[in-house]
Amino acid sequence: MIYHIKETTSTNDEARKSELHEGDVVWADFQTAGRGQRGHKWLSRHGENVTFSLIFEPHFLPVPEQFAMLEVVTVSLTELFDSYGIDTRIKWTNDIYAGDDKMVGILIEHVYSGCNLSRTIAGIGINVNQREFDPSLPNPTSMSLQTGREYSREEVLGRYVEIAMRNYALLKEGGRDRLHERYVERMYRLGERHPFALPDGTRFEGTITGAEPSGRLLVKRSDGSVGGYLFKEIEFVIQKRDI
Ligand code: BTN
Repeated sequence: MIYHIKETTSTNDEARKSELHEGDVVWADFQTAGRGQRGHKWLSRHGENVTFSLIFEPHFLPVPEQFAMLEVVTVSLTELFDSYGIDTRIKWTNDIYAGDDKMVGILIEHVYSGCNLSRTIAGIGINVNQREFDPSLPNPTSMSLQTGREYSREEVLGRYVEIAMRNYALLKEGGRDRLHERYVERMYRLGERHPFALPDGTRFEGTITGAEPSGRLLVKRSDGSVGGYLFKEIEFVIQKRDI
């Protein structure tokens, strides 16, 4: 069931309510305190985009395999954009890019019960019809900026939920490896040589060779060694473009 509301602090907060269950969606036209990754705010213009949270209850999934939920969410977004003829890539771990520009922000929050997951809240902000962005944002884009068209937000959301629930069913039915392959195939900058930055400020050139099913990013250095990196252990270096 899709619950479409006018305004809330953050749809991820709404999605914690116990009366909501697997497959339910909270969609808000405006968030007064939209949350991004790493404690950032998520700014999205009133009524121009789709900011929502999709709820899963993956009781079957052990905590160490939680990256699989991120794969369901991200692979499904690239498939959504394929269906609109927009080519996108997954910037590890979980941003969706068109070229070097960010089109979707994702904030996934899990609730655990013992060794397994009990709830995954996939908070997703898809830039749909917004064409002007705060100049301080690094390379934002939208479906509209990519194609010059306007989109029905209801349709974008409906299509996404259908694709995501199909891929989630695949995961439940044992399709973990297939999903992981699809994640890797759609990775941003896969197989290309680019600069990276480490938390201590060191920069180096490397080539992404893939990701482990646990989520570790694999980057090959010029000396041939391959390093594995967890979230926050490495940053992409992406040129900020002038708006
Ligand atoms: C990021 O790229 O920093 C993640 C942004 C996530 C934004 C979405 S919008 C819907 C949901 N509610 C939130 O408060 N955040 C997520």
